[in-house]
Amino acid sequence: MQEQLIALLGHPVAHSKSPLMHNLAFHTLGLPYRYLAFDVHPAHLAVAVQGLKALGFRGANVTVPHKIEVMPLLDDITPLAKQIGAVNTLYYDGGRLVGDNTDGQGYIASLLHEYPHLRLHEMTIGIVGAGGAARAVAYTLAHYGVKKMYITNRSGEKATALANGLLPLTDIEPVKMDAFATVTNKLNLLIQTTSVGMSPHDAASIVPRSWLHPDMIVSDLVYNPLHTRLLSDAREVGAKTHTGIGMLVHQGARAFELWTGEKPPVDAMRNLLIDSFS
Ligand code: ATR
Repeated sequence: MQEQLIALLGHPVAHSKSPLMHNLAFHTLGLPYRYLAFDVHPAHLAVAVQGLKALGFRGANVTVPHKIEVMPLLDDITPLAKQIGAVNTLYYDGGRLVGDNTDGQGYIASLLHEYPHLRLHEMTIGIVGAGGAARAVAYTLAHYGVKKMYITNRSGEKATALANGLLPLTDIEPVKMDAFATVTNKLNLLIQTTSVGMSPHDAASIVPRSWLHPDMIVSDLVYNPLHTRLLSDAREVGAKTHTGIGMLVHQGARAFELWTGEKPPVDAMRNLLIDSFS
């Protein structure tokens, strides 16, 4: 089989761990694929996407700042990516270039990988933050079906806008940050989606300890550091924890399946990423 090429389009891309992770997975499975990162200026995005088609690339990832702007350049967009309003993975379906969003799917796959007995449709979930990551996770949870979501954000109007968009799909309520403590006792899962606590601000947490209790799982989408201040607070109160590296690995794993039809070695990918941050 001729070598198949997969691209990452972003600006910048030098920091991305995706080439490392995917090339390891291709090598481990003996697949003749190669993953290459391209720093594409926003002014050149349209010609870059045409270039992928012209050069016979098999698929791509799209990252900041192109996740929204790439959408009108594609032949199709999956219903989930359309709802989220952003695309991170391009693949071909019958010759048509399709955009999907695997971030939220990766989050759920990672959560269920670590906690296989969870029943999403019975869960009451709190989401902290209302940016791109929160959108992907909240829409994907709504798509899969959950019992109820509460969402809070520093800028309350963004949480309200996100909740309003989701209301036709799921039971979701925006709550002001200073009132969120009144709902946390109902939560089975708390998902921190903001960048607060990311290195070098390791000591910071946006979640007061009073929101945490032993009967919840606490997820932090921040993966650098792996064990954030929030997760150490969660462990101290006896809550279960879920680190952000899982979403990074599993969003890649879902994209890998769309390109190759094969399941990648997620544990090896995860170990490689953890090593690359230490
Ligand atoms: P991403 O795509 O990573 O989600 P984003 O779309 O810029 O990034 O969203 C960032 C999220 O982190 C937002 O919810 C933002 O809150 P605001 O909407 O109030 O800006 C939140 N965030 C970032 N820095 C924060 C801080 N220092 N304190 C509280 N929230 C913060």
